[in-house]
Amino acid sequence: MAGVRVVGSLLEAVAWVRRSGRLTNGFVNDLVSPEKQAVGGGNTFNSTYVRLRPLSVRRGSDGTFFEWRAGTQTERLSIMILREADEGDVGDIVAVYTYGERIDDRLERVRRFGWWGDEEALAWYLKSLKRTGGISIVAVEEEKVVGEAEIAPDSGPSLVGEHAFLLSLWTHPKYRGKGVGKALLDRCLEIAKEWGFRVVDTIPIPGSEKFFSATGFSKVARQVVAEASSRPTPGLAGLVSLGPGDFPENLCLLAGHVRPGRLSWELLWGQAEVGLGLPSPKAFRLRVGSWNFALLLYAIPSRNGPKAAALLWGEPRVGVGQVFDAVEVSLRIASEAGFKRVRAQLWEKFLPSFSAAGFDEVKKVPWVRKQIRPR
Ligand SMILES: CC(C)(COP(=O)(O)OP(=O)(O)OC[C@H]1O[C@@H](n2cnc3c(N)ncnc32)[C@H](O)[C@@H]1OP(=O)(O)O)[C@@H](O)C(=O)NCCC(=O)NCCS
Repeated sequence: MAGVRVVGSLLEAVAWVRRSGRLTNGFVNDLVSPEKQAVGGGNTFNSTYVRLRPLSVRRGSDGTFFEWRAGTQTERLSIMILREADEGDVGDIVAVYTYGERIDDRLERVRRFGWWGDEEALAWYLKSLKRTGGISIVAVEEEKVVGEAEIAPDSGPSLVGEHAFLLSLWTHPKYRGKGVGKALLDRCLEIAKEWGFRVVDTIPIPGSEKFFSATGFSKVARQVVAEASSRPTPGLAGLVSLGPGDFPENLCLLAGHVRPGRLSWELLWGQAEVGLGLPSPKAFRLRVGSWNFALLLYAIPSRNGPKAAALLWGEPRVGVGQVFDAVEVSLRIASEAGFKRVRAQLWEKFLPSFSAAGFDEVKKVPWVRKQIRPR
């Protein structure tokens, strides 16, 4: 047929076709399992998107529609492609996350939407994600980015074991409820499986808990956000300052496990590079008796004086007593660094140590998990 060519990226991408109602036989043959089994012999399929073998998708030369060919028939269909995001997608991804909200001040946008609120910050974030083994997937419908998701491997020592971590999943508000989120999630689960993980974990943002329970995630742990005032004291002998190249490989995150630790380390050391005037963090190695800890403090916006967020790494078998000592030292380091308050998001089992050191609970945060391979 004149003007029809195979689109290169489709050869690698998984294509989803928005379709419902009666399907022709040829179409059913092109479906990818398990959709094929779901359709069976009935030829009717009610899902909003069905997965099609990518090779059978062609695009019109005017670039505004896609065609699907089965045998001698050609049909025009609305299709969605899932592919790895590249540098050219950054602006579109920011538009998906910030849709409908106009905030001119860059720093304010980053406060409101995180890395996803600003093109330069997001470009840095996506580079760090890639460097630490993660991937960003975009859902593209008729040349428009309609959703984005990120998954990263987290194989280092961890109190919740090895897992792939779903960092974010976002559908453009105008395209919600059509299966975009589910398609992106399924692709992320597939990638995690290809990496060899048995489970995928995430921290649902408020309002998305139902989406995750509807898609098979359940709560396996809890973190607590808590805050304390820092306190001055002399006697910080024996502390060793750490720099960008000193990621504490063999320790687990006791507080601040909100994404893979190595990715947080990369992002926080790099934040000075995104032109928002954000300072570099301060990091230290500390010892309590024979126990090793690492601490990273970075400034977070606050109206009530300088505030730091703390990431604390420790050995997997560390006891609450040693954690208490390390938290005490952390509050002193924060004070020396000029921070009045310290915020931490800690695993719930360490709440007694943090409370004893003066932290007050702000909120609880669920950690949810989906099994993707049998135990
Ligand atoms: C959560 C979100 C990604 C869902 O995307 P979506 O494209 O609308 O989701 P889908 O259309 O694929 O829906 C998949 C399933 O989840 C259900 N679902 C979607 N949003 C839901 C919600 N808020 N509560 C309960 N169920 C929900 C749908 O009904 C659908 O179920 P079905 O397959 O039985 O029909 C989207 O609402 C969003 O971007 N929200 C803001 C960001 C966010 O919360 N992200 C998640 C954490 S980072």
